[in-house]
Amino acid sequence: MSDKELVDIAPAKGKLGILLVGLGAVSTTFVAGVEAIRKGIAKPIGSLTQMGTIRLGKRTENRVPMIKEFVPLADLNDIVFGAWDIFSDSGYLAAQKAGVLEKSLVEDLREQLEALKPMSAVFEQNYVKRLTGTNTKSGKNKMELAEQLIEDIARFKKEKGCERLVMIWCASTEIFIAESEVHQTIEAFEKGLYDSDSRIAPSMIYGYAALKSGVPFANGAPNLTVDIPALTQLATQNRVPICGKDFKTGQTWMKTILAPGLKARMLGLDGWYSTNILGNRDGEVLDDPESFKTKEESKLSVLEHILQPEIYPDLYKDFSHVVRINYYPPRGDNKEGWDNIDIFGWLGYKMQIKIDFLCRDSILAAPLVLDLALFLDLAKRADLRGVQEWLSFYFKSPQTAPGLYPEHDLFIQLVKLKNTLRHLKGEELITHLGRDYYE
Ligand SMILES: NC(=O)c1ccc[n+]([C@@H]2O[C@H](COP(=O)([O-])OP(=O)(O)OC[C@H]3O[C@@H](n4cnc5c(N)ncnc54)[C@H](O)[C@@H]3O)[C@@H](O)[C@H]2O)c1
Repeated sequence: MSDKELVDIAPAKGKLGILLVGLGAVSTTFVAGVEAIRKGIAKPIGSLTQMGTIRLGKRTENRVPMIKEFVPLADLNDIVFGAWDIFSDSGYLAAQKAGVLEKSLVEDLREQLEALKPMSAVFEQNYVKRLTGTNTKSGKNKMELAEQLIEDIARFKKEKGCERLVMIWCASTEIFIAESEVHQTIEAFEKGLYDSDSRIAPSMIYGYAALKSGVPFANGAPNLTVDIPALTQLATQNRVPICGKDFKTGQTWMKTILAPGLKARMLGLDGWYSTNILGNRDGEVLDDPESFKTKEESKLSVLEHILQPEIYPDLYKDFSHVVRINYYPPRGDNKEGWDNIDIFGWLGYKMQIKIDFLCRDSILAAPLVLDLALFLDLAKRADLRGVQEWLSFYFKSPQTAPGLYPEHDLFIQLVKLKNTLRHLKGEELITHLGRDYYE
């Protein structure tokens, strides 16, 4: 298709249901935020779909619409929420326990948050060792559990009168699982569901249920989930957009801003040491070495891909990269992330960069959930199917086509995202060549 061809996008009519797997810190902060924005007591800060603009045509044309006015996104007033969790706490109680938001704000939104009651979850403690909950489903095999989720999805859609749905994994990080034969084809995967194969984690069962129901799926955690051939094939076959993995929020977001800067100036790197203290439930789950391994894999790959040591051995060969997460309850959701970066410049002279990022994990993640829900719904209406690489902007380890290395540089990711929107609307792609201004 040429860049100038207009893609047929169905209008965003009726209600959009956002189904959240996990009703913890990120999900409740997201829901409370959208409710607060709808009430007019907050602004959607951090959300590209709500606050971002897009330049169209030449710099001299002064065409810079808001993204939400340029592409047909669902209106925030048309969103309804659903969730699953292993705890039966309502959104109100879960938000209180997460302790991210001020008590007075949670009280102001009590009615809306209380209305959000989690459906029973597909869960097995083997996959998240630190959690035990009772609001869970049972079935004779994993296929039966998938069928129960498919029923939940259909019931929710009908009861809430939704036109369209999207599903976002905001549940805990599962233990590390390597891709194996059961993940290779749809047939092998379905057989695995009937056999309750241990290599099929609960998140994969949610992913399967979403794709079978034609519901777009985003994975906010580093678990494999839909990043396996069986489920990417199912997504393409059922014309459903998918994306993941692992929301790019605090330290890794910083890395994907800074590392491209070092490389752009051809400055070398001896080492990058990152450590965090975090006291929320996510921190507690990640204190388990098996869940941490999933997260570590996701965090470590970023620098290798951006710095390309194989192409620049003099600058980046054998740099040391260490990432630690320490569970430290007093800090709650207010994470502190330190980075010590040992770099070298002209004539090999050494320098250091130190970062001390006092961030709020769920405050950074919530707007990403909103953007992903709205963009995935747009993708579905534009008939984009399978892996949506243009949404890499939101992820620490972006899902890509087999054999294709992921693009981690935040600014390349942003150009990719905006060019995809221009392409959908038949606008010229922006190359930043700009010779015509001087001719
Ligand atoms: N906050 C961030 O900046 C950030 C960034 C990247 C990734 N993440 C990931 O997002 C996820 C959510 O983070 P959080 O801080 O909200 O964690 P959280 O622990 O507060 O919430 C997760 C919720 O998921 C529930 N859960 C676990 N397994 C489930 C299952 N199988 N089905 C349904 N519910 C299940 C838990 O009971 C819990 O309530 C984590 O995996 C985290 O690693 C968060």
